[in-house]
Amino acid sequence: MKKKAIIDVVGGNCGPSWAYSDVVKDHFFNPRNVLQDGEAFPADGSGVVGSPACGDVMLVLIAVDPATQRIRACRWRTFGCASAIASTSMMSIMLTEDSGMPLSRAERLKPEEIIERLGGLPDRKFHCSVLSHYALRDAIRDYRTHGGRVS
Ligand code: FES
Repeated sequence: MKKKAIIDVVGGNCGPSWAYSDVVKDHFFNPRNVLQDGEAFPADGSGVVGSPACGDVMLVLIAVDPATQRIRACRWRTFGCASAIASTSMMSIMLTEDSGMPLSRAERLKPEEIIERLGGLPDRKFHCSVLSHYALRDAIRDYRTHGGRVS
């Protein structure tokens, strides 16, 4: 007997809740602050996490102004989906806009704040925004632990 395929991305119940906002599409097709091949980014903190939900992986690098304790630059890379790419791209903007986000604020950044700036994400894609959020926390922890350059 043939097994019925379970299709996760497009199923019978998808409907409008699966629609991506224009902001999500923009950040997916034109992601900001991606770490380029061979780029020598002067990272002060590095975070890597994997998602138990889907097996995808996220790297986030931060450069910190030691005088102000603000994030002055961010790079990232992922083996992840469109939602993960858009979420991390938006997070990198949020971290570096307005002279850089203070580390104390970045530690408290919530996935919901990123999703709000994206104009929403499908409910089943919430874990994708959590991936960048956890990688950022890991990078900040790395900075606080080692307090200096990692590459
Ligand atoms: Fe894996 Fe989105 S499905 S990060």
